[in-house]
Amino acid sequence: MEVLCFGSLNIDYTYQVDHFVQKGETQSSDGLYVFSGGKGLNQSIALSKAGVRTYHAGAIGEDGRFLLQQMGAAGVNTDCVAVLPDIRSGHAIIQNDKEGDNCILLYGGANQAITRDQVDAVMEQFQSGDFLVLQNEINELAYIMECAARKGMKIVLNPSPMNDKVLSLPLELVDYFVLNEIEAVQILGADPAQAEDGRKLAEALCRRFAAAAVVLTMGGAGSVYMDEKETVLQEAYRVQVVDTTAAGDTFTGFFIGGLIRGLNKKSAMDEAAKAAAIAVTRPGAAPSIPELQEVEAFL
Ligand code: RIB
Repeated sequence: MEVLCFGSLNIDYTYQVDHFVQKGETQSSDGLYVFSGGKGLNQSIALSKAGVRTYHAGAIGEDGRFLLQQMGAAGVNTDCVAVLPDIRSGHAIIQNDKEGDNCILLYGGANQAITRDQVDAVMEQFQSGDFLVLQNEINELAYIMECAARKGMKIVLNPSPMNDKVLSLPLELVDYFVLNEIEAVQILGADPAQAEDGRKLAEALCRRFAAAAVVLTMGGAGSVYMDEKETVLQEAYRVQVVDTTAAGDTFTGFFIGGLIRGLNKKSAMDEAAKAAAIAVTRPGAAPSIPELQEVEAFL
């Protein structure tokens, strides 16, 4: 069983700030760090570190070649990443404040230049039972989902960052949703007040998408796994937060990686929560993702 992550690769420019810059304000930052990132790249690295053979497909410009090296160093196969001429790689401008919280401004660049020819060539290499992991930072998502469903691949969707585009996707094809409360509320068209009750949201998603399993992450309040037969409640581990960037990506990669390795749902959720807890104690996106041995040793 293989796993293909078809998703974004970003250069993350992370600025250390006192507080998020306000409208009309000019603020000097306390530092600038350049990291590899992008929800797709982060999730591929997390999948690979979780111990599964991982293939990444996507697109970068010439300026993003170092992203390929970093993925390769983490064991991810990048043969399906196109290096496009005359376009910049995707990038993110991230403000990281004193509490470790972040806000992110994205520039899509090459992430938005995926072609159907590329999708066809990539999908030819995968088969029934393989996993496809997607986020919402590239174009042609609906086409990718339809190709994967025709092949009988299992589709994992992390609908992040959430926007109206997600609502027009063929969501009935999804096998696993991995999402937070705000994303769940928006997919359900529910009252934002319902974001308070993660379990109810997961139940509503399971009713709406009867063929899918749902993993709902709730930050410090933990997470819940739900399908038609099973519910697993997972607490979040308490740690000293340095930078929350890529915590969700780490969770997604380790959860799906755990399932592919044959863990039961409870163990996969626990491993994912531990991996995300370690990630938030470290700066940056992809560089903050731990190795499986560290996760297994985490108390
Ligand atoms: O989830 C974190 C990621 O979101 C960052 O690495 C940034 O590139 C954005 O895609």
